[in-house]
Amino acid sequence: MIISQNTIQQILSRVDIIDIVGSFVKLKKRGTNYLGLCPFHNEKSPSFTVSPVKEIYKCFGCGRSGNSVSFLMEAEKYSYVEALRWLANKYGVEIEETETSPEYKQQQQVADSLYIINNFAQQFFSNYLLTTEEGRDIGLSYLKSRGFREDVIKKFQLGFNSEHKDGFTKVALAAKYNEELLVKTGLVSNREGNLYDNYRGRIIFPIHNQSGKVLGFGARIIKKNDKAPKYINTPENEIYVKSKVLYGSYFARQAIDKADECLLVEGYTDVVSLHQAGIENVVASGGTALTPDQLRLIKKYTNNLTIIYDGDGAGIKAALRGLDLALEEGLNVHLVLIPDGEDPDSYVNKIGATAFANFIASNKKDVILFQLNNALAEAGNDTNKKSIIINQIAETISKVNKLEDFSKQQAYIKQSAEILKIEEKGLHALINKFIRDSVIKEENKTEKRELLINNEIPEPQRNDFSNEAYSFLYQDQLQEKAITGVLLKYGDRRWDEHKNVAEYIISSTIDEDDNVVINEEDFYKSIDDIFDDKRVVDIFVLYRKWINNGKTPTLNDFTYNENSEMVQLAIETTNHPYELSPKWFEDEKKNAVIDRIQRLSYEDFMEQVVNNADNDQSVYLDYIDSNYKDEVEDVLIYLKLKKVKRLIIRNEKDYNSVTSNEDLSLVMKTHMHLKGIQKALGEKKQIVYYPF
Ligand code: UTP
Ligand code: MN
Repeated sequence: MIISQNTIQQILSRVDIIDIVGSFVKLKKRGTNYLGLCPFHNEKSPSFTVSPVKEIYKCFGCGRSGNSVSFLMEAEKYSYVEALRWLANKYGVEIEETETSPEYKQQQQVADSLYIINNFAQQFFSNYLLTTEEGRDIGLSYLKSRGFREDVIKKFQLGFNSEHKDGFTKVALAAKYNEELLVKTGLVSNREGNLYDNYRGRIIFPIHNQSGKVLGFGARIIKKNDKAPKYINTPENEIYVKSKVLYGSYFARQAIDKADECLLVEGYTDVVSLHQAGIENVVASGGTALTPDQLRLIKKYTNNLTIIYDGDGAGIKAALRGLDLALEEGLNVHLVLIPDGEDPDSYVNKIGATAFANFIASNKKDVILFQLNNALAEAGNDTNKKSIIINQIAETISKVNKLEDFSKQQAYIKQSAEILKIEEKGLHALINKFIRDSVIKEENKTEKRELLINNEIPEPQRNDFSNEAYSFLYQDQLQEKAITGVLLKYGDRRWDEHKNVAEYIISSTIDEDDNVVINEEDFYKSIDDIFDDKRVVDIFVLYRKWINNGKTPTLNDFTYNENSEMVQLAIETTNHPYELSPKWFEDEKKNAVIDRIQRLSYEDFMEQVVNNADNDQSVYLDYIDSNYKDEVEDVLIYLKLKKVKRLIIRNEKDYNSVTSNEDLSLVMKTHMHLKGIQKALGEKKQIVYYPF
């Protein structure tokens, strides 16, 4: 659905970010801001700040930031449109929809119908199980023989379908459900024009979405039959997308939240049995590798994932295949192996609920170290294998790479080095290499990486493990963000009596002459040439358009905007604390102001922020603020450096076509001159801005 621009404006004019965030996070007022525990990462002392004035939030722990809309998108995993709908509903704004595409409408209608059919089928199968003679004799007695209680069977809405070839189909057709849609649900199959039940002689496990609606089914055969598959699952359709579903998540969500842990098992019966044993924070993946969507679903509730699998099965391998992804998502992953020949369902039935809970609690292993120990045991004395293992573990640890996971990464390095009996330093270096490689890969992929053209700064060597090389890779990106930041923050202030800061930045970015105003298209081309980040280009182009229309935009025009990438960049570039290059510390005046902040430990810093309203921070930020001209000049040096680099290269090309001594001397002189400028600029450039 497309929500009209008018509605969006109405919603945004009524939004109160404190109200929104406050319904998810307990907030306390501190000075002009509000503070609470970050909902996006685990923390004990609050570093999540909400500014009602700027209408944004920012976590000083994990670095996440955004506005009301992006908060809902992140916290509730809403889409942009869903978030707007939620807000419209909350603030009583009537939604005005502009024309939606016919395909979209059609798809929504199909989805709605599939839900209705599934609901009908679920009731049919449940009734069949509980109220018919055949259902009770065959289905229910089978479930009871496996130890399932009736209350749990009802809670999970389990059902049964008889062996008849078309019992369900007939009822569904009599109820006037559409044939094509019935086939789409997977409940009915069409063989040469005749419709049959797809699940015959099977126990039916309905699969629910987050709000309890039935997305699809898993159907388990009762009689042993080598020809038929044990389970038949719903095929992919408009509502059932296997990679997004975790069986049991509807029944587990509250328990996961409460336990701050999600247990992952393989099968439907494992989930139901553990529930019956009072262990309700459990979901099943169906024995396949975890997908990013499934991990995100888990992360919505907790950062702690415990995989409970049968140790020698193929399932464990599948589960571990999703592991790197889980680590990248910042999950703490543990593993519990169930003894040979058992699965969680059979094992809990064997030893009882209490013993099972104890078993889980006392057999949890950190999954990274578990894999390491396993691989080492397998490698024995083979040094070749051992070096492969070291590489693998380094790669795995390199994925634990989010800011909030820094100490976790350090702990892994320490423990792994101990287990491997190698130097921590060496492992560290190897991990950095993997981080760098993945950065390079990422950048090559998006073709954003600019060639390093200045021959004074060598391209980082593959075997060069220094951290400078790492941050160097990010230089351009950081600099572009810094320039965007000053444009958005100070754009509407005066630069001199002729122009404001935005006009100054824009004109010095592209060498726009005050008297010759270039057209929009040419402007786009030149700005696109200068910046790699497409979002930065967009912001500059939009900014200039506004100015040319006689209105200097404010930061809010960028932080509330349908283009969520632009929103993210605007917030990112204008709300990060600054890290300063060592040179900056040499200036005593500045030092006095920033000393306490920069050199405090993270905990102490947070405590100061909490206790002294936001004194320290605001003193610091005020300082930066009153020096906005310096800041602007400083970030622009980068652009000048870039230009000089280009001139040097062009000059070097000229060198190749020199034919006379005079020309040669001119080229040489130019070279020296440019190098001189480059050096001077490099020295002038003191502050390096690192966005979180
Ligand atoms: P299992 O074979 O371990 O079955 O497959 P189970 O869950 O323990 O079932 P019971 O206890 O024998 O009744 C684990 C999971 O793999 C998927 C299902 O999700 C199942 O729960 N699976 C298995 C299929 O999708 N199709 C199959 O044919 C087999
Ligand atoms: Mn089983």
